[in-house]
Amino acid sequence: MSIYVTGATGELGSLVITHLLKQMSASRITAIVRNVEKASSLAERGIEVRYGDYSDPASLAKAFAGASRLLFVSSPDSDDTNRIVQHANVVKAAKEAGVGHIAYTSFAFAEQSAIPLAHVHLATEHAIRTTGIPYTFLRNSLYTEVFVNPALHASVEHGAVVTNTGTGTLNTATRNDLAAAAAEVLAGEGHENKTYTLVSDQTWSFDELARIMSEITGKPIVHRAVSFAEQKSMLIHDAGLPEPVAGMIAGIYQAVAEGETSKTSGDLRSLIGTPAPLKDTVKQVLQA
Ligand SMILES: NC(=O)c1ccc[n+]([C@@H]2O[C@H](COP(=O)([O-])OP(=O)(O)OC[C@H]3O[C@@H](n4cnc5c(N)ncnc54)[C@H](OP(=O)(O)O)[C@@H]3O)[C@@H](O)[C@H]2O)c1
Repeated sequence: MSIYVTGATGELGSLVITHLLKQMSASRITAIVRNVEKASSLAERGIEVRYGDYSDPASLAKAFAGASRLLFVSSPDSDDTNRIVQHANVVKAAKEAGVGHIAYTSFAFAEQSAIPLAHVHLATEHAIRTTGIPYTFLRNSLYTEVFVNPALHASVEHGAVVTNTGTGTLNTATRNDLAAAAAEVLAGEGHENKTYTLVSDQTWSFDELARIMSEITGKPIVHRAVSFAEQKSMLIHDAGLPEPVAGMIAGIYQAVAEGETSKTSGDLRSLIGTPAPLKDTVKQVLQA
């Protein structure tokens, strides 16, 4: 059985390959990449590397030939309309190439989401269903790393994490845990035509994050809750972010405040066991 992974030079895709290699030989894995040079370390590990660009349909049909199972990692393009076109290219090429099974990295609780990118994921799931190819929808949470990343060093310095998440809670999972779940589905059996909601079954809040940061650093750090408008203005004027990026970040925080990321599921734990505790991820970031 041959397993093909798109986005293999990206953060999630490369972690999926690391997890697959714990379960199978490199000869069973093919990496689909838009930049073959960037994939040299994969080729060195014995993985076949093929060129395939989501915006170049002919390249995709060739790249997918022979795939028993395909992990389709969603495009990072910032234009959602363009992303839907790219995703349709991938789905059409998978059908033409006779791919046996598609696992797609979708978005948790997409139907109820107020975050605009949910439209891309739902459209892609529907496109995949039109092919008749067995599928597994890996409805990923927001990554823990979207919130817990080196930017927290500045919060340690200022003694405050400032967000407009209010008392909202988050069901995030790390990229590594989501990659382990994808590898489990690709290598395992019985996942045809299933939709998995891959979120943590234990939520956290920014108040809790600030407490954990205090514990790890030994410095007093609080969570300071601000409004959407204050947050956006701070991101533009203090952090120097462009207006659309500031709006997107404050928008995600607002969705958290409104309960979008508060729902839990046991699907991730069923696939991989206990997800990484928040404290471990915070330690990795602050002690790096
Ligand atoms: N759940 C979340 O919180 C969250 C957050 C951010 C993104 N996402 C979504 O999850 C996906 C995977 O996350 P990630 O962290 O692995 O993102 P990433 O590190 O940006 O990886 C994206 C991958 O897609 C490849 N790619 C980009 N444009 C392509 C194209 N036109 N044709 C073929 N491949 C293309 C990139 O290739 P290069 O290496 O050549 O750039 C890279 O390998 C993202 O693409 C995005 O759709 C989810």
